[in-house]
Amino acid sequence: MTRHVIGKLDEFPDDTRRVVDIDGVDIAVFNVGGAFHAMRNACPHKGAPLCTNAPTGMMLESAPDVYDWGREGEIVRCPWHGFEFNLSDGKSVVAPQLKLRARVYKVDVEGEEVALYV
Ligand code: FES
Repeated sequence: MTRHVIGKLDEFPDDTRRVVDIDGVDIAVFNVGGAFHAMRNACPHKGAPLCTNAPTGMMLESAPDVYDWGREGEIVRCPWHGFEFNLSDGKSVVAPQLKLRARVYKVDVEGEEVALYV
């Protein structure tokens, strides 16, 4: 794993996302309320850019006629066919046992720098 400094902390404001190119690979870096995440900017289904939509939440399991929304900011929804992935580990929300998984990377704030480990 190689450390790449991708910018200064103030270049990644809260609740924004941007794409960085690391050796020809587009990686989406998300700042969700101060928590950083990084995910390859290509859906494992057909390659759509996963940074298109801001991280969102999802409907939670609940009783009939009860609609509970939760996990706000933890889910990335693909813009092409709607597959959803956990921002933290890239696993499919509806079928975590499948190999269909978005690639995630470690990203850290180190002082005033944001570093991505690829
Ligand atoms: S390309 Fe992402 S769900 Fe199809």
